[in-house]
Amino acid sequence: MIGADTMHRLRREWWLGLATASVVVAGCAAALVHPTAQDARWAAVRWPETTLADLQHGRALYVQKCAGCHNLHLPEEFAPEEWAGYVSYMVADAKITPEEQLVITRFLASASARTRDVQSDDAHRPAAR
Ligand code: HEC
Repeated sequence: MIGADTMHRLRREWWLGLATASVVVAGCAAALVHPTAQDARWAAVRWPETTLADLQHGRALYVQKCAGCHNLHLPEEFAPEEWAGYVSYMVADAKITPEEQLVITRFLASASARTRDVQSDDAHRPAAR
């Protein structure tokens, strides 16, 4: 989370150089889950041939492209199926390519599914979901 406190700290420590700043930024992204093999299996059910590496790429892009204007929204804040809409809503703001949009969406949706404990098998989900 990049709160007001962190921003003040970032400014105060700026003279220490980029090294300090990147440690602070890395600390903020620490709350964001990392993709797992389970996430990759979940994603591949929806988007065939999605790999763990794709999801890791998606996470890296999310941190890189989406933290500039507001705190990173954690994957579990929204349901898996809600993420595609939010990411497409932010395409122009974040200046991301369609390819980047895809992997960011897949990372966020699969991480949301795991952290919210959504079943990976559609057949086992309630019809209304
Ligand atoms: C250029 C600034 C900017 C960048 C970069 C940006 N956003 Fe946003 N985002 C906003 C603003 C401003 C809002 C709140 C106002 C709004 O809803 O239009 C917002 C709101 C959101 C919301 C909350 C919407 C809601 O209704 O609760 C989500 C989720 C979100 N952004 C995701 C992303 C993602 C994902 C990315 C990267 C692909 C991203 N943002 C990059 C400016 C940005």
